Amino acid sequence: MEKFYITTAIYYVNDKPHIGSVSEAIAADVIARYKRLKGFDVFFTTGTDEHAQKIEERAKKEGISPQEFVDNASKNWKEIFKTFKISYNRFIRTSDKDHVEVVKHFFQKLYDKGDIYLGSYEGWYCVRDATFLKDSDLKDGKCPICGGPVQKIKEPNYFFRLSKYQIPLMKYYESHKEFLQPDFRYNEVINVIKSGLQDVSVSRRSFKFGIPVPFDNSHTVYVWFDALLNYLTSVGFLHDEEKFKKYWPADLHLIGKDITRFHGIIWPAMLMSYGLPLPKTIFAHGFWNLEGEKMSKSKGNVVNPVNFVEEFSEKAHIPLDISVDVLRYYLSREVTFGQDGNFKIDTFLSRYNSDLANDFGNLINRTVSMLYKYMNGIVTKTSMDPEAKDFLIEQQNNFFEEMDKYSFSTALERLWEAVNYLNNYIQVKAPWKLKNDKSELAKILYTLLEGIRTVSVLLTPFMPHTTEIILSSLTKSEKAKSLDWEIIEDKSKIEKLPPIFPRIEKEKINIQFKEKSGEEKEMIEYEDFAKLDLRVAKILDAEKVPKSKKLIKLTVSLGNEERTIVGGIANHYAPEELIGKKIIIIKNLKPRKLMGITSQGMLLAASNDEEFSLLGLDRDVKEGSKIS
Ligand code: ME8
Repeated sequence: MEKFYITTAIYYVNDKPHIGSVSEAIAADVIARYKRLKGFDVFFTTGTDEHAQKIEERAKKEGISPQEFVDNASKNWKEIFKTFKISYNRFIRTSDKDHVEVVKHFFQKLYDKGDIYLGSYEGWYCVRDATFLKDSDLKDGKCPICGGPVQKIKEPNYFFRLSKYQIPLMKYYESHKEFLQPDFRYNEVINVIKSGLQDVSVSRRSFKFGIPVPFDNSHTVYVWFDALLNYLTSVGFLHDEEKFKKYWPADLHLIGKDITRFHGIIWPAMLMSYGLPLPKTIFAHGFWNLEGEKMSKSKGNVVNPVNFVEEFSEKAHIPLDISVDVLRYYLSREVTFGQDGNFKIDTFLSRYNSDLANDFGNLINRTVSMLYKYMNGIVTKTSMDPEAKDFLIEQQNNFFEEMDKYSFSTALERLWEAVNYLNNYIQVKAPWKLKNDKSELAKILYTLLEGIRTVSVLLTPFMPHTTEIILSSLTKSEKAKSLDWEIIEDKSKIEKLPPIFPRIEKEKINIQFKEKSGEEKEMIEYEDFAKLDLRVAKILDAEKVPKSKKLIKLTVSLGNEERTIVGGIANHYAPEELIGKKIIIIKNLKPRKLMGITSQGMLLAASNDEEFSLLGLDRDVKEGSKIS
């Protein structure tokens, strides 16, 4: 079995996941699932990058040890990857014991070889990216990578002899055009190499939460040198020879455009220095912007992907797992992979309505309805209509061709040509006119069902949960996910599903998906404030809302009445700790349905990026009391 080793960049553990970072894990997951479908033995890794200076500061602020801090933060990333169905084989953390050993060993070996030496560094330093910068690197006096502040520092450092690898790197690039993709990134990096490479600092003295240099405890290994090595640790380097031999070199490092130079220059030079083969391909994707603007935490211009899918699931009345799949589909369909993308709520809703509700959803509903109407939901197996089958096979091949180039959007376009063909096939063949020609009717319906099955199989990498539902409604055969044809058995009963993608009225959907932090609101009159009926409420009962990660259903007392209030607080409170608390609610907010439960009012809470608290009282006051 041919192997395929794929990696994502590892995520700064202290950063909050946003739609951009999660999009990379989704893209890698799509590739991993696609390769598995094609019969590859896939190893897929992702994880967290944990040795940064900010972590020491943040942990101190929270009064916990840096290790405790990264343990919590890493769990959060894992949780998010679970929500987004990221099917990794290993979640690596740079604080993992085997990784620490790999880094020490690698550093020592390069030092012994004379490729790492002690020198002195003087210049600009960005704390967030733990990166040294030259005067010419700065943009308006700030870090060109994150836009954050820089400091002037001078310290003794260990340096890696990158300059020695300039010529070998250039030669390698020239004979391996596929090494860095897309082409325009290849050209960018080869030009940097041609313009000359300087040795790079690979140790720091300024912070302790990192991996110590094995022969000099006063230094910590530079976070990038440490992080890049995760790709070796993940497949057993130093610890599992057989596994390492099987999977290394990586077939694909998937990364974002901002970190191309680390991966395209420093990483291969490190591997050359050690004497290991280089990864086959590095693919640098573009960035997601938000409604035409760069995503930036300081501007509050980011999308929290979990909030987004939860909110869409509630508003569109679809289960959370399907909402996740819709986002996975949108991110894959909306952008030419490699280019920047623009996340827009309007295009998101249009794709949902047109591609999923209208095209694919309708195809399934119409076909299954006809099967029930004319054949009591029971399949008569025939051979497929040869013309339709030929067309579908051709589209399948086109789909594979595009997927092999990581052109997800075009691959999906090809797949939708098959969906549209099948919708049109219904129109042209008009099964409703064939009630008396049972054998022709059976053939048309079987062709449609197999068409839906094969399209669903190809869609599994993008929409793993939804396609599972569709496929298991079509056949219980073990071969349901096979790329072969005519799998659905004779006399099997097709399950009738409620519409998977109910159409939504775009105008009625208002998704508050941006995370606005510290945003100023306009001034209001006292009369505006006085319209609010704020009350003290006592929580009598609390329970998690099934199928929602965020929502808790509360029963509260206002003294002379009880009410149900649904609040998005499950990430911050366990239901049992809420019972008996007195909180503040808005009593006269129009009732709103959330996950099928009517919320009669809204609770108030204080929050920022890190903290959350329900509003309470500093003295006991009877429930029902007015707040003014
Ligand atoms: O760079 N759109 O981690 P990171 C698309 N720890 N992708 C984006 C994005 C956006 N708006 N913003 C970030 C690091 N990314 C290092 C990597 S690997 C040995 C060490 C991508 O958490 C970004 O390009 O800042 C990168 O590939 C990934 O998210 C993690 O970024």
